[in-house]
Amino acid sequence: MEIAKTIEEVKHHVLLWKKNGLKIGFVPTMGYLHEGHLSLVREARKRTDRVVVSIFVNPTQFGPNEDYQVYPRDFERDQSLLSKEGVDLIFYPSVEVMYPEGYKTYVEVKDLQDRLCGRSRPGHFRGVCTVVLKLFNIVQPEEAFFGWKDAQQVIILQKMVEDLNLPVKIVPLPLIRDNDGLALSSRNSYLNPEERKAALVLSRSLDLAAELIKSGEKRAEVIKNRMLELIQQEPWARVDYVEIVDLKTLEPLEQVQDNTLIALAVYIGRTRLIDNLRIISGGLEK
Ligand code: PAJ
Repeated sequence: MEIAKTIEEVKHHVLLWKKNGLKIGFVPTMGYLHEGHLSLVREARKRTDRVVVSIFVNPTQFGPNEDYQVYPRDFERDQSLLSKEGVDLIFYPSVEVMYPEGYKTYVEVKDLQDRLCGRSRPGHFRGVCTVVLKLFNIVQPEEAFFGWKDAQQVIILQKMVEDLNLPVKIVPLPLIRDNDGLALSSRNSYLNPEERKAALVLSRSLDLAAELIKSGEKRAEVIKNRMLELIQQEPWARVDYVEIVDLKTLEPLEQVQDNTLIALAVYIGRTRLIDNLRIISGGLEK
């Protein structure tokens, strides 16, 4: 496994691989890896000939009062996990490599970027799109792998790829959870034991939504209110949003139907967590 800290080093490998007709799979991450990240790496390994993983805590996707400085980092551990997965190349750039002095260009996906998480994190998806487009241009993958954990990110990046005619296929993969249902996240490391228990309220509220839907309830308002009631019973929890939206446009729906996203963001203490479930082809995916 190679580790590249500069764009030139990555391009060197990419060029050789392309010359040999090898298919490149790419998994962008911010590191502090867990089974969710590794599930993407494993799928990339299965589907492509060479796997590149980037580890870069991207400053442009954090707001001024967010956790950029304290975001967990452990490159040595990440490196050892990725080497066991048979990754070919880790791209581990510095901020100066990605955003040299005088950097000016940003990518926005209008409207979609302002909904759900975009409302409480203005500028977040602009930062995500910008860094992912840069990474795509550097790594030039045929396929890029993303988790449904960040459903809005998947939808926005698919739109960016479509609108900008990028020669890459976005492959969305299932959300990986802990045994008790908590969605895996690098930010779970912020939770103390009491908060860790309280954090289950996100996944439990989605279970409640799933039960209601299975029993025939379709009204978004009713489902949302029942979820909110449940979350409000948890003293450590403060709701940022609970929304039921169209899976493509992210516009609010009155009735749950095919291609629906039920997404929520909840503060547990000072930690903001997200979770979601999707209804795709009539099936519930959580
Ligand atoms: P990060 O939060 O490190 O996540 C990297 C990838 O892992 C994303 O595609 C995310 O959806 C996926 N992932 C995280 N937790 C997951 C889980 N529990 N199950 C399945 N997949 C999971 O998302 C980012 O980084 C950044 O925004 C990035 C795309 C790298 C741009 O900076």
